[in-house]
This record gives sequence, structure tokens and C-alpha cells, in this order.
Amino acid sequence: MRFDPSFLDEIRARLAVSHVVSKRVKLKRQGREFIGLSPFKQEKTPSFTVNDQKGFYHCFASGEHGDIFTFVQKMEGLSFPESVEQLAREAGLEMPKSTPQEQAREKERDRLREAMEEACRYFEAALADKQGHGAREYLHQRGVTEKTSQTFRLGFGGRDRHGLKEHLASKGYSAEEMVEAGLIIAGDDIPVSYDRFRERLIFPITDQKGQVIAFGGRALSDRMKAKYVNSPETRLFHKGYVLFNQGPARQAAFERDQILVVEGYMDVIALAQAGFSNAVAPLGTALTEDQMRLLWRMAPEPVLCFDGDEAGRKAAHRAVDTALPLLEPGRSLKFCFLPRGQDPDDFLAEQGADAFRGLIDKAFPLVRVLWSREVEAGDFSTPERRAALEDRLAELLKQISHKRVRRHYGEEIALQLKRLWLTDQPVKHAPGPAKGTPRARFERSGNRGFGGRNLQEPWEYGGASESLKQSALVRGASEIASREALILRTLFNHPWLFEDQSEQIASLTFRNRRLEALRDEMLSLTIADNPLDFEAFRTHLRDSESGAIVAQIDRAITHKSDWFAEPDASRTDVETGWRQILALHRRSVELGRELEAAQNAFQDEGSDSAFERLCDIRRQLTDLEGVEASIEGYGEESGRAGDPLA
Ligand code: UTP
Ligand code: MN
Repeated sequence: MRFDPSFLDEIRARLAVSHVVSKRVKLKRQGREFIGLSPFKQEKTPSFTVNDQKGFYHCFASGEHGDIFTFVQKMEGLSFPESVEQLAREAGLEMPKSTPQEQAREKERDRLREAMEEACRYFEAALADKQGHGAREYLHQRGVTEKTSQTFRLGFGGRDRHGLKEHLASKGYSAEEMVEAGLIIAGDDIPVSYDRFRERLIFPITDQKGQVIAFGGRALSDRMKAKYVNSPETRLFHKGYVLFNQGPARQAAFERDQILVVEGYMDVIALAQAGFSNAVAPLGTALTEDQMRLLWRMAPEPVLCFDGDEAGRKAAHRAVDTALPLLEPGRSLKFCFLPRGQDPDDFLAEQGADAFRGLIDKAFPLVRVLWSREVEAGDFSTPERRAALEDRLAELLKQISHKRVRRHYGEEIALQLKRLWLTDQPVKHAPGPAKGTPRARFERSGNRGFGGRNLQEPWEYGGASESLKQSALVRGASEIASREALILRTLFNHPWLFEDQSEQIASLTFRNRRLEALRDEMLSLTIADNPLDFEAFRTHLRDSESGAIVAQIDRAITHKSDWFAEPDASRTDVETGWRQILALHRRSVELGRELEAAQNAFQDEGSDSAFERLCDIRRQLTDLEGVEASIEGYGEESGRAGDPLA
């Protein structure tokens, strides 16, 4: 259903953002805004702001930004229409009436839902009674407890060819309705229609609200032709939009900030029983774009679990391709590969929940899976082959539609290529027993940047440390100075900030010592001269030793989002901008320290873990730049010149 914008505005007018947010987040008023600890990220200092006038919230730690509707969608995993429904209720507004046709259609769908619910009860009852004995036994064998079975409302499709059909008929449902619901099979060439789900263990598939919209049925013996029979597409059920267990998993995912994606119903059930209630599964097909969007509403980096065999690898690669055009800052996928031939259900039974947790914690980022796919089994010993690889990678990166994400992928891939070229030496001798097939040669050459061939192995890092030190990976951090310049420029144009911020200002650290000197000079001026004469303040600074750097910061800033630093910005805008820039600065200083420590550790140890740590911090730093960039198109117009990482 489409909503009239004026209806949405009416809800917005009745519900202040701070009102909606404060049910979840403790807020403190600060000037015209509210601030609080980010609900999107663990943090100790508040970087989450709410502005009722403008009608939005912004989280400087995670880049999350939106209005009341996005807020409840994110926090409660609701869809947009659901968020409208909930907030309209809260605002005391009636949902707009739909057209008579829409109402009629909705009524028909309600009938189908009721039929599905009735069928679900029928299957549940069958599992519980005499005929369900074998199915109960089967569940028991597979370690599914009665409680789990009830939670998932598992059932049994009885032996009787017409059992469900007759049951539903007795409840007043027509054969057409049963066909529409996908519960019975009928057709011109079928004289007597019959139940679709017979002699099978039944898995009800529910929508976000927990209403049954489809079923999956697993054969209980190998003699049966199809292992699974599933509901066809119906007016309630569109396979590509639904994930098994999506309703219950949504809440759990929000609490843990993580959603797991597995391949089978039984995997989801085994995981839930082992304490991982945040798992879902697609319905026997590869993940669709819509399912990925659904996942991203639950958590920023869904973890996809695959069998470690060739088929699992292929499925992972398909997911990579589906995801590339959809990637956004902070929104990606992770990949977890199980030992060959095992699904999560097998793995849990064999190794337990802790081992599974360990696997998930080590899940690989998407970029790494992509890289491995492209270089695995490759021979890059000639310039032509190297060029071909680069072409292929460039083509792939074009798939990423988000500009900034694409650029970061480019940087990461360029770095990996460099490492690969440095270590992938041409074959000089005829190789030994394995007879120089590319594959054999590859198997022996350990060093593959990201780990190349085998994702189970740790990164192998060779001797390229000098080039690494020169690379963008390490270099970037020392160049993020535009923010520092912006801070000083704000103070220069708005010295009144010293009136109640002088302690904060005094405690700031800058990478650039000359900026620190300028700050100290400003401080001493404002302390000496009370009340402050702003013109004298500026004249003094221009004439002092810091004059040159004052001129430099005057020229340094060009982004349109930095207007709050300009002399004519209003006081409240300056205050808001100032608070935001300080929050970003503190985080970046913190990361800068961590980066330095990681660089030292890497230099000392040269270990995989040190290198990974280095990359991780670097990534956080670039993410932080992304946050900054998301504030009103920072850097977009001024192009690379305005880019702190350029
Ligand atoms: P699997 O064959 O891996 O089955 O299919 P499973 O879930 O591990 O089941 P067990 O452990 O053998 O009992 C994974 C998923 O693919 C879909 C189902 O959704 C299944 O859970 N599938 C599989 C089908 O839809 N039809 C099939 O014939 C097979
Ligand atoms: Mn299985």
C-alpha cells in the first residue's frame, strides 16, 4: 500500500523524533538538540543526536541517519508499512482507508491466511497423535527436542491422501481456496485433487508477523522421490521475499547486532536449539536481492554460512555477485565456511555451540571472498595474465554502484594486487613431480595476499613489508588533517566558543604540532583578554608567529558542509557543527593511536594477526571518513581535492 505523504507528515507532526527515540535511548537535551549513546554502536561518549526541528536523528559513530519511520524500522526490524502502522497507532491516527478493491483483495488474503493457519494446526495435531509416531521418532533421532518442535510449530502431513482436504472442507473452505493456498494439488489432468503435503515432516514458513504463509515438507524416508516439497508461489507467499524464521530471528538479530544465514530449515532449527536464535534460511534457492535487503534491515553485516565444499563455494560466489550492486557504507556481508560436507546442523552436533561461535567470529569479509575467487587456481606469472586479472577485477568493481564503497574496494584490491605481484614469481625451473600445472604451482606458492586459494587458512604474509609501509594502507592516517584545520578555523572565526569550551579545547590533540601551537596561542589570548575582543584576537593571531598557518587554514577548507566554520554562520549552527566535528575528531585520534600501535606491532612481529589488526584499524579509519562524508554530501562536489584520503 502506498501512503499519502500528507498522512506521513501528520504522523511526523504529532510525534517528535525525541519522543520516539527516547523510548529506546536515553537522551539529554543540549541546546536545540538531544544527544545520547548510539543505539547502533557500542560507545562510551555520546555521538547520537536528535533534532526535532529538522525531524531527524544522526549517529556520528555509525553514520545512521533518518526520521521516526527509519528509526523504528531499524530498531525493531519493521518494514516501512509496518513502521507507519505502528507510529500511526502511537500518534492516535487511523490508518487511511484503502479502496474497495483493495479491501476485497485483503479479505481474500485473510481467508487464505486462515486456511494456512488451520492447515498448520492440522499438521501439528497429526505430529502429536498416533500417526505422527514415526515423525516424532525421526525428530528425536536428529536431536530436536519437543520444545523446539513446538516453538517452530513442526507438523506431520498424514498418510491420508485427502486428510487435509476433507478437514478444510469441514471448516468451510472451498477447493478453489485450497488450491489458491497451495495446499492441495488439482488440475485438468487430475481427476481427484489431493493433499500436497503427505507423509512429510512439516516446517511452517511464517511472515514477519508470525502468520503462516507457506510450508516446507521433508521426506521421512529415502524412498520418497523428492527430499523436500514446498508450497508453490501464492498470493501470500513469494519465495524470493521470505526467509525461514525471519520473524523470531529479527528480534534476536537486533539484540545481538548479527544475523546468521544458513541453507536449510534443519540448520535454522538446530541453531535455535543451540542458542543461536538469530538464524534464517532462504527457501531452497540462492539469496535474492530482496532477501538481502531484508537481512540488512536486521543487521549491517549478515553472516552467510556455507558448506566448505565446491557447491558451497559456488553459492558464496553467487551471493557476492548479488550483493555487489547493493553495497553501501557500513553495509556488507560476511562469509563463514564450514568443514567440507557439513552443514551447521551437522557441525553443531559434532563440535558444539562454542566451536560454531568460533567459526562465525572468524567469518571473512566479502572483499576477501571476491579476491579469493578471482585469484584461486590462477597463474599470474606473465604480464599478460596479470593484465587480464586486473581487467577482470576492474569489471567486477564496476558492479558496485555506491561511489565511495567502490573507491575503497579499488584501494583494497590495488593493495592486494601489489602484494600478489611482489610475491608471485615466474616459474624458473621445470617444476617437480606435480608437473607445472597452474594449479600445482599455485598449491605450492603460499603467498596469496588475502590468503587466496583456501579461505580456511590464515593470511600469509611474506616479505613485502617495505612496500606495505609505503602503501595507502599505512599512509592514510597521517593525512587526515583537514578536520584539524576545520576545528582551528571554527575557533578562529568564532572565538566565543572559548567562553565555555576552553577546557575541552585545551585537551584536544592534533597530529600537526603547528596547529597545537596555534591552539595554545588562542587559549592564552582568550584567557588574558576577558571579555574577548574578537577583532583584536584575529589581528593578533595574523601578526603572530602562527600567521602563516592561520592563512593556511583559511584556504584549506572548501566543503560546502563546513559552512558552520564561516564567520557568518549562526550561533546554533556553529554549536552543532562544532560538537559533531569534535566527536569525529576524538574518535579519529583514538584510532590514530591504535593504528600507530598496530604499525609497531606489525613491524616487530610481521605476523598475520598484526597485519589483520592493521587492516582492521585502517578500515575503521576509512569508515570514519565515510561517516564524515555522509554529512550533507561532504566532498562530493569538491571532488578529490576535498577528499581527506586523496
Ligand atoms: P539440504 O538438502 O541441505 O537439506 O537443503 P537440509 O535442510 O540440510 O536437510 P537435512 O539436514 O538433510 O534434513 C537445504 C534446503 O534447501 C531446500 C530446503 O529449504 C532445505 O532446507 N531444498 C532442498 C528444497 O527446497 N528442495 C529439495 O529438494 C532440497
Ligand atoms: Mn542438513
